[in-house]
Amino acid sequence: MRASVTAHRDFTISAIDDRLYSAFLEHLGRAIYTGIHEPGHPTADKNGMRGDVAQLVRELRIPYVRYPGGNFVSAYNWEDGVGPVEQRPTRLDLAWHTSDSNAVGVHEFIAWCESVGTNPMLAINLGSRGLDEARNFVEYVNGPTGSYWGDLRKKNGHADPFNVKLWCLGNEMDGPWQVGHKTAEEYGRLANETAKTLRAFDKSLELVVCGSSNSDMPTYPDWERTVLEHTYDSVDYISLHMYFANRQNHTQNYLALNHKLDRYIGTIASTIDFVKAKKRSKKQVTISFDEWNVWYHSNAADRAVLDGNSGWPHAPRLLEDAYNFEDVLQVGCILNTFIRRSDVVRIACIAQLVNVIAPIMTEPGGPAWKQTIYFPYYFASVFGRGTALNLGVDSPGYDADVADNVPYLDISGVHDEAGKTISFFAVNRHDSEALDLSIDLKGFGNARVIDHQVITHPNLKIANTLNDQNAVGPKPGSGMAVDGSALTGKLAPHSYQMIRVQLS
Ligand code: AHR
Repeated sequence: MRASVTAHRDFTISAIDDRLYSAFLEHLGRAIYTGIHEPGHPTADKNGMRGDVAQLVRELRIPYVRYPGGNFVSAYNWEDGVGPVEQRPTRLDLAWHTSDSNAVGVHEFIAWCESVGTNPMLAINLGSRGLDEARNFVEYVNGPTGSYWGDLRKKNGHADPFNVKLWCLGNEMDGPWQVGHKTAEEYGRLANETAKTLRAFDKSLELVVCGSSNSDMPTYPDWERTVLEHTYDSVDYISLHMYFANRQNHTQNYLALNHKLDRYIGTIASTIDFVKAKKRSKKQVTISFDEWNVWYHSNAADRAVLDGNSGWPHAPRLLEDAYNFEDVLQVGCILNTFIRRSDVVRIACIAQLVNVIAPIMTEPGGPAWKQTIYFPYYFASVFGRGTALNLGVDSPGYDADVADNVPYLDISGVHDEAGKTISFFAVNRHDSEALDLSIDLKGFGNARVIDHQVITHPNLKIANTLNDQNAVGPKPGSGMAVDGSALTGKLAPHSYQMIRVQLS
């Protein structure tokens, strides 16, 4: 089977916003407690944060981490997480039927962000609470000393404003499961008034308004239209979420799901344009895809806690999907879609980062390790910075549930002009045939292959577990070479590949 690709130096999609490789941490299960935070762990620092986890996070070079939820945020009192730790209340978390000691709050989270080289993206509770608490929270985090909230922050150990610029106006407010769920009209008005108020405090804040929880919601895409009609001129981004599952155990259908993702992004990009035209606005709202990942492996195991049959446990095992090799291919395709849509998707957050549907797993008192999906995320985050190329792709395809003629080759390319490199991220979706790949590098001059990494495995369902932490991982590839202006080589069946060329 053959696939040919044309990459032209001048045919580009967009400069990629580095925030496309962001992540998410929620007070849910063991994401925070025994995830990033475990006083008493042999690697814990003076703040009780796990050093082994911090190291794996640092390697990913994550630009922003969204916090503290998720569904959790819609009944969260941020005040519970500030002040002396021993005086903080334990609260019931209504979203996940657990309890939270509040040992980690906004101070501890921001200090952790600094220690791992990332930035906070904070979410505001617009479910059980409203405008006044939103305003107080932002003033607490960013306000000057000499004012009530700034002085309280100083008393709690941090005189300087944290200067957090990126804020989410609630979470999944279209979802009936959400505490304080609202209609699009109700939410649109509240979000707009909140945005106006926060901007009266600081015009330079960047604000994310909630879009639909997924593209199967009955209110989609009218929700986005209505919410944007209320908020267009006071927000910067609209958030989208999507989770991927192989419930039918049908790999070809599963690996086609990024076509649904692509349509979802296209529909919301058009909705943004519609509202922009209607408002005669010069402003360009873009997309914050602030929750995405594979999520289904753990569904059955989670029922007991979510149904309330386990009482109110603190940091139980929840949403602990053990990712397999098939999920590497899926995550590779998802990230390719974000790169190809980087003109409208400016922020994206893998959900989540540690233990809860996450690339990093931990054992309390024990090791931390990389799940299979860590690797495609790592390659995209570290090497996918620069300008997304508008590749011309000619590949045979197959018909799937969500789309016809899904190409066996899924590929994106990123040109780093400063580093003089191009990085290609490719997935061969075919289960038994290799792809003879030829990429014509037009207008780039001389090139040579400097790195080629391959992830493949004969067993689609194999996972990296506590007892077998390295079952799946990248290995150096071979046989990719540049001859004249053509980069050629073979992509093994069911494989993820990263190929980087150096330009002269
Ligand atoms: O990431 C898990 C949950 O998925 C989040 O809390 C919620 O926003 C979404 O439904």
